[in-house]
Amino acid sequence: MNATITLLPGDGIGPEVVAEGRKVLEAVAARFGHTFTFTEALAGGIAIDETGDPLPDESLAACRASDAVLLGAVGGPKWSDPRAPVRPEQGLLRLRKELGLFANVRPVKVIPALADASSLKPEVIAGVDLVIVRELTGGLYFGRPQGREETDRGRAAVDTLRYTEGEIERLMRVAFDLAQGRRKKLTSVDKANVLASSRLWREVAHEVARDYPDVEYEDLLVDACAMHLIRRPASFDVIATGNMFGDILSDEASMLAGSLGMLPSASLGNEPPGLFEPIHGTAPDIAGQGVANPLATILSVAMLLRSGLGLADEADAVEQAVDSVLAAGHRTPDLTAPGQPAVSTQEMGDLVVAALAQQ
Ligand code: IPM
Ligand code: MG
Repeated sequence: MNATITLLPGDGIGPEVVAEGRKVLEAVAARFGHTFTFTEALAGGIAIDETGDPLPDESLAACRASDAVLLGAVGGPKWSDPRAPVRPEQGLLRLRKELGLFANVRPVKVIPALADASSLKPEVIAGVDLVIVRELTGGLYFGRPQGREETDRGRAAVDTLRYTEGEIERLMRVAFDLAQGRRKKLTSVDKANVLASSRLWREVAHEVARDYPDVEYEDLLVDACAMHLIRRPASFDVIATGNMFGDILSDEASMLAGSLGMLPSASLGNEPPGLFEPIHGTAPDIAGQGVANPLATILSVAMLLRSGLGLADEADAVEQAVDSVLAAGHRTPDLTAPGQPAVSTQEMGDLVVAALAQQ
């Protein structure tokens, strides 16, 4: 297969982890006889520094012209002044919107070799294998009006939480389809006891559920979901929710797996390109030190291969390579106790490439 992949390394540890993701893609291409062409483009804080725009038109055009996009992370203290006119995160939000990436798929799986890296008891996290499907181009992130105003009682600011039935329905269908290929259980998360948008969410979710009688369906309020994710995480299969709730719950759920450094994600629309990225941020405190865990990016590469390019065997091979490297005991510092030996970002990438070659 010939495929064009746009790389958006972004800020902080982004460039370091994307370099390892690319290495793995190159190894996959060599082993399976594909030709991947890479285009690197600016996004985030670095794009603001170089062009004044967190997503220059050129970068968006490169993404649109490609078969899949791999992103590192964007943002950092340098650009986080609350009064700054442009922010790195705006680039990512615009990219999601422009590419129509309405479904963000975030799998959380406890890898047995890492069970002791979680802050929860091993018996609580045993068997955790869930996927959060987060609505990504609507809700509180995109509702208008949004902004600040001066009033006669001082400063005020507003955000708007709005969902249309079409936005809810297409998201629920992605989640139900996914559940059908898994353990056939779907939890829809809302705040229907308070929010009108959540009551519509629930109504539409129930309508869609009728088309999937084989999937066990439950509604859960977001506060209860936050609790049950810690209390009975293994009972969840697919969790479908709105943009803001999904943002928060996915960071919470990531802790089940021990480290944010392990979790990949895919943002998908009706057609390619999809956007694939680790769920962790730019980690400015460790940027440039070669200690970041590249596995979330490498596992995002596996998602890119499977759902972005339709290369399931190649995706399986990458995931197995990661498993075998972890089973052999290799760890980046985020996964080790202080003072324990650890490998660097680059060494971890090399180990995965070597494991791929040995399969
Ligand atoms: C995420 C991030 C983003 C979000 C930020 C960087 C805009 O937290 O992908 O979860 O809130 O969606
Ligand atoms: Mg987030």
